[in-house]
Amino acid sequence: MRSLIDILELSTEELDELLNTADDIIENPQKYAHKCEGKKLATLFFEPSTRTRLSFEAAMYELGGHVLGFSEAKSSSASKGESVADTAKVVSCYADIIAMRHPKEGAPLVASLNASIPVINAGDGGHNHPTQTLADLLTIRRKKGRFNNLTVGFCGDLKFGRTVHSLIAALSRYKNVNFVLISPKELVLPQYIKDILTAKGIGFTETADLQEAMPELDILYMTRVQQERFFNEEEYLRLRDTYILTPEKLDNAKSDLIILHPLPRVNEISVAIDKDPRACYFDQVLNGKYMRMALILKLLEVK
Ligand code: CP
Repeated sequence: MRSLIDILELSTEELDELLNTADDIIENPQKYAHKCEGKKLATLFFEPSTRTRLSFEAAMYELGGHVLGFSEAKSSSASKGESVADTAKVVSCYADIIAMRHPKEGAPLVASLNASIPVINAGDGGHNHPTQTLADLLTIRRKKGRFNNLTVGFCGDLKFGRTVHSLIAALSRYKNVNFVLISPKELVLPQYIKDILTAKGIGFTETADLQEAMPELDILYMTRVQQERFFNEEEYLRLRDTYILTPEKLDNAKSDLIILHPLPRVNEISVAIDKDPRACYFDQVLNGKYMRMALILKLLEVK
């Protein structure tokens, strides 16, 4: 039995296998329509979500399986003090696989150590979000055709943005990938991740200036300033609109740039960008469902 807590638990060969399965699901959905008949996915969401929870649920339905779960902590017995470990043991009696989102870093790992079924980390605090990375990787592969030889700009809240942390980890395994880390000084990438990049000899630069970085980027990954992780509302209000991508700011961008965002967006990408063919964030949303289908099949060992 295998869980997915950190994207690095998947080898690059396994990522290729998941990406290939997702491509095949896109081409031949009927082939997969009954693969999970009789199986149940439990979605245990202790923190709000639209895409991740609903795409997991849609994924399981499209595989012919069933879904149970809760979408907020207060409708579960966590509100009465039940631990994550006990919740995982209990849900193992009812379901075949768990997708868990939790505000505390490490909670899905604790669940996986106590469950008797696979646990998928659907986002843990400001730490990791491996299945968003799966969606990001499928979008990059379908749009750019490669993971090597890319300059990737991450812009916004790099401190709390868990999708950034997981995608940097995943892309760090490919050749000649350079990161441009664009953020205000209060929201820079955590030092432990920069230390890993330095130790592996992976190129990265830090700047607060999106416009200066724009011409060299192959991928621009915008992020929302994560209000829910701030202790100080004033600080959030001061930083939230640091970067707002508007059409004129793309004047010096590459014509084959792709613009990604894990969503939800607040102000950081103008809706006027949505019409630009380089805007790929709604492709990510759909690709997330296909990658979660592929992942469920893999972890349930369905052939
Ligand atoms: N990208 C993402 O995790 O979105 P949700 O918070 O809506 O699940």
